[in-house]
Amino acid sequence: MKLSSFIHFASFGIRTILFHKKEAILGTVIVTDKCNLSCKHCSVNNITAIVHPYEKIKKEMETLYNMGVRILFFCGGETFLWKDGEKTLRDLVIEAKAMGFLIVNVVTNGTFPIDLPEADLILLSLDGDRTRHNIIRGNTYDTIMKNIENATSDNICFYMAINKINQKAIPLVCMTAKNMKNVRAVSFNFHTPYPDTKELALTKEEKARCCHIISRMIDKGAPVFNLKSAFPYLIHNQFPTPCHQCVVIENGKISTCGRCIDVPGLCEECGYFFVAEYTLLFRGHPGIILEMLKTYLKYI
Ligand SMILES: C[S@@+](CC[C@H](N)C(=O)[O-])C[C@H]1O[C@@H](n2cnc3c(N)ncnc32)[C@H](O)[C@@H]1O
Ligand code: SF4
Ligand code: SF4
Repeated sequence: MKLSSFIHFASFGIRTILFHKKEAILGTVIVTDKCNLSCKHCSVNNITAIVHPYEKIKKEMETLYNMGVRILFFCGGETFLWKDGEKTLRDLVIEAKAMGFLIVNVVTNGTFPIDLPEADLILLSLDGDRTRHNIIRGNTYDTIMKNIENATSDNICFYMAINKINQKAIPLVCMTAKNMKNVRAVSFNFHTPYPDTKELALTKEEKARCCHIISRMIDKGAPVFNLKSAFPYLIHNQFPTPCHQCVVIENGKISTCGRCIDVPGLCEECGYFFVAEYTLLFRGHPGIILEMLKTYLKYI
């Protein structure tokens, strides 16, 4: 991370903590909800299947920038399905950087060839070993592995949503992240139980076991892009929600924290690690502040 970016984030953090501000720093643009997969745990694919036009996405990026957002995520649906004429996802990343976003990340299912060297991180969803991943995501594991090997940059971070099916695969995903040359780290979430996927949710005991395993893997040197100090809060869903420093924009509609904010009761069962990490950070939790400094400087 550049020193100027670090100074910007540090001063945002200090102002937010001291004055209990609710301004956003992290924003996500949903470029499309169209997807080539229909994963077992996912409730947000192909609801409209609209691929939003370039001008609309650009305006949404400007809106976020003017709100003060400086960490931008492109998400979907499947982001690599986005295009408008000659323009591709890579053009959006380049545009975002030119606009002044300090960190630009993309979330993808990894089933398309990866050529995004301008992105700071490519969060690539890997949901276990081949068998468990394929149960959740269809027969995609081998294609994804080939695409990672052939990627043109080493800015990939695995993104694993831990649920009833894949909870035993955490060490394997950690080791895969450690051993693949284009992969920097792995970042975890717990399954967030939308009404149609409640059966995949973990119990508190299962979450505690997963956190214990992740901690052990971190101690053994696995590259995990999460904060151990947030684990107790995640296990018991005792972190504040929603995260006011995060916003999502989809088809012109801005939501605080996530699109899921409209699902009644979901925030109390939220499994997104970033929500716990960011809300605790901006409440001034000393352990989280120190660990975040260490972790972010290591992987971004
Ligand atoms: C909605 S997908 C969109 C980007 C891309 N299609 C992909 O799969 O990475 C973004 C991330 O959300 C995760 N996800 C989907 N439903 C979830 C849920 N109910 N709880 C936690 N994570 C979920 C996916 O596994 C994926 O890592
Ligand atoms: S690839 Fe992503 S958007 Fe598509 S169904 Fe799976 S989790 Fe949902
Ligand atoms: S806190 Fe609520 S809005 Fe935010 S990600 Fe979790 S479920 Fe979604």
